[in-house]
Amino acid sequence: MSKTLFIKTWGCQMNVYDSARMADVLAPLGYRPVDRPDDADMVILNTCHIREKASEKVFSELGRLRALKARKAAGGGRMVLAVAGCVGQAEGAEIMARAPYVDLVFGPQTFHRLPELVTRADGHPGGVLDIEFPAESKFDFLPEEQTGQGLSAFLAVQEGCDKFCTFCVVPYTRGAEFSRPAGPILAEARRLIHSGAREITLLGQNVNAWHGEAPAGGGRHWGLGRLVRAVAELDGLLRLRYTTSHPGDMDDDLMSAHGEVPGLMPFVHLPVQSGSDGILVAMNRRHTVDDYRRRVDRLRHFRADLALSSDFIVGFPGESDADFAATLGLVEQVGYAQAYSFKYSPRPGTPAAELDRQVPETVRDERLTALQALLNRQQLAFNRAAVGSVMPVLFDRPGRRPGQMLGRSPFMQAVHVAGDDALSGRLAEVRILAGHPNSLSGCLVGRDGAPVVPEDAPRAPEVIA
Ligand code: 5AD
Ligand code: SF4
Repeated sequence: MSKTLFIKTWGCQMNVYDSARMADVLAPLGYRPVDRPDDADMVILNTCHIREKASEKVFSELGRLRALKARKAAGGGRMVLAVAGCVGQAEGAEIMARAPYVDLVFGPQTFHRLPELVTRADGHPGGVLDIEFPAESKFDFLPEEQTGQGLSAFLAVQEGCDKFCTFCVVPYTRGAEFSRPAGPILAEARRLIHSGAREITLLGQNVNAWHGEAPAGGGRHWGLGRLVRAVAELDGLLRLRYTTSHPGDMDDDLMSAHGEVPGLMPFVHLPVQSGSDGILVAMNRRHTVDDYRRRVDRLRHFRADLALSSDFIVGFPGESDADFAATLGLVEQVGYAQAYSFKYSPRPGTPAAELDRQVPETVRDERLTALQALLNRQQLAFNRAAVGSVMPVLFDRPGRRPGQMLGRSPFMQAVHVAGDDALSGRLAEVRILAGHPNSLSGCLVGRDGAPVVPEDAPRAPEVIA
């Protein structure tokens, strides 16, 4: 019998990937994805615990769904309500206690057991909790992908983390570092391409720490540089990316791939968190500012036009004005195409939450504003610097206005052109005419460099991401 499934996803790309795989696990049970919770027979909240207010958001969403569930029950129907992901893992017992109408709570490592969990929840009015870190890997039990992810697909190659940065919940919510073997990764990549993917992003919490068994087995292992080269050779794939990396795991084989593998995009997300050595030690990052700068230089040695993105935390406990100034200084030196910056948020159970010298909220606010102003200036400068150049853009969706298409540059910039749906799924050369804070606009050019669509065609407006 056909049943409907609604999944709401918060957090990182790994969560987006996991949600797609949960839908795959539930498909053989007759569940088909829908876009609204209102008519769903099952609702899963796939949650994120990385920063504060995560669990409050989950509880307020649960409050709304509770009313929906009650309405369904009053009409003789049933809605299975589940909490998945990192809040489920970290606060499963509390969720069961505070929201007894929740049928199921499970973490990122047990969703391959969903069929069994759904059956158990059926005869268990008190709800079912599964936040174990099982000995088996879920990847060995997940069915093949049922639904393609479209033109640009995620592929999880590595999960979890053994680095234990003192601010971070990931080692506790996702568990120990684990690398999938290369064989199943290549098989999944081939299936994604077969179902329409032209761009694949290899995912991992610490993706460049990946060290999976080689396809031939025999106890031999590959690093990410080798895997990137193998995936890039697959027929039909146009673009390859990987995220998120740790500076300490950036080896020469991976960095040199940026100079040797044409499909590997010249854009790397390499979080540094802080520009102060003292703060990096307190964060247990295991690298210095100089190590980071040298990695950046080496990447640019292999690929001169490589663009960088990063994550920053401001207001880590003990961060002085001088430490923060060092972060601004590093940003000035490196020059980012884009970046994410966050106020430090003490996470329960992490070592940094116990540190003295927490930075006052007002100071954290001021520092975040200053850092974001600088990063926004750099992003605008980077976008404006593209004006006049011609670059390949992979088009995947209509723009906001009729007659516009939206795609991505090699550097992940959103690019608008005048064009129609025939462009969808195509890689086309675009002359960049304008750089905005969050996007570029341009016009298609033919092989001879002449515009395909007249330059005076309606100009694409800025898109606020
Ligand atoms: N507070 C603020 N930001 C955090 N991040 C991770 N943990 C915290 C925290 N406790 C940020 C880091 C990381 C990104 C995914 O989220 O910058 O790289
Ligand atoms: Fe959030 Fe981290 Fe879990 Fe991703 S792994 S959902 S970022 S807490």
